[in-house]
Amino acid sequence: MIKTPIFLIGFMASGKSSLAKKLANRLELSCLDLDDMIAEKEGRGITEIFKKEGEQYFREAERRALKEVASKRAVIALGGGTPCFYDNMDLIKKSGTSVYLNVPLKVLLGRLKQNRSKRPLIANLSEAELLDFVKHQLEERSPYYLQADLVVEKPKISPNELIALLT
Ligand code: S3P
Repeated sequence: MIKTPIFLIGFMASGKSSLAKKLANRLELSCLDLDDMIAEKEGRGITEIFKKEGEQYFREAERRALKEVASKRAVIALGGGTPCFYDNMDLIKKSGTSVYLNVPLKVLLGRLKQNRSKRPLIANLSEAELLDFVKHQLEERSPYYLQADLVVEKPKISPNELIALLT
């Protein structure tokens, strides 16, 4: 039995949301996406929340959403920053099973270059700035991410492969 919730953590574009859906399906659990929950509660998108209220406000909303899902029988895709603020990683660890999708920098950059308009932290960066930002953030965030119960070192993993690693 895998302890629930199963939290998928990792940098932006590491594939948390799409894997969460497939994994939840496979395990017959519900699937939650923390960013979607925050957006729904606020009645506006993440970009607008960042723009109008600032990052601190978003992080507080994120913390509240995390507390709310911590006891659910679900697969939960967290935001890229969720484990790295307050004592969120402690809460994640004591509440369920955490999986870090450790996708190489190069792969992340390739994905982020193509799909950054919805990500307020990187939406306006040049390519050089994006590289600097991702490198720096990964260095800062890795100590949190690496506390996960399982660290997946593949750019893409199937739900079945992941289940095999968790059981
Ligand atoms: C963030 C990642 C985003 C979202 C917000 C902040 C971050 O989630 O929570 O834009 O700090 O890395 P994704 O990882 O799902 O893009």
